[in-house]
Amino acid sequence: FKVTTFQQDLVNWFNENQRELPWRESKNPYRIWVSEVMLQQTRVETVIPYYQAFIREFPTLEDLAEAEEDRILKAWEGLGYYSRVRNLQSAVREVVSQYNGEVPDTREKISTLKGVGPYTAGAILSIAYGKPEPAVDGNVMRVLSRILLIDNDIAKSSTRIIFEKILYELVSKVDPSSFNQGLMELGALICTPTSPGCLLCPVREHCRAYEKGIQTELPVKSKK
Ligand code: ADE
Repeated sequence: FKVTTFQQDLVNWFNENQRELPWRESKNPYRIWVSEVMLQQTRVETVIPYYQAFIREFPTLEDLAEAEEDRILKAWEGLGYYSRVRNLQSAVREVVSQYNGEVPDTREKISTLKGVGPYTAGAILSIAYGKPEPAVDGNVMRVLSRILLIDNDIAKSSTRIIFEKILYELVSKVDPSSFNQGLMELGALICTPTSPGCLLCPVREHCRAYEKGIQTELPVKSKK
């Protein structure tokens, strides 16, 4: 497995083929954070108009910190899982009071914020700050399970930690943002759950599942 070539192939593909999405117009950590919280349980196409309206209404972290609860709930109406936006506001208030309004740039500090789990932490650190940190969600586990032929059960919480360890080694130190977003984009556009488009895949030559013709048998997911 050629790590450097794999990283370059993925990053180059992402840089040339990424979708234009509103949260890709800025590296502002607050804006990346809002997008990742919205995307946690909601599809990209649904999130787009909500994200645009939310950023128009609360352009900065301070605006969100100072907003009345009924306004933030109103802006979230239709997205569901209202605890997400309540946690987000309580976390941005914490950033204002404890970190002078600057979103922390270390995993240790950012992970103490309400609602910021390992995935969201890795996404903000890599996309906004360019840190070589893993951002493992279900899509990333699917893509990596195929490329590296990993057959651990992705329904088990211990499996995410295994993927994180692997990604600490594998994430590009040159362009962690494009690398992590490249894995997400590959999962969204090509390496889809039931009919992956391997013939269009930019990293097909690195993929152990494709080599064996077992791409649709991965990831392994028990029902529980
Ligand atoms: N899903 C989660 N994070 C995403 C992102 N930054 N871009 C596209 N899809 C995503």
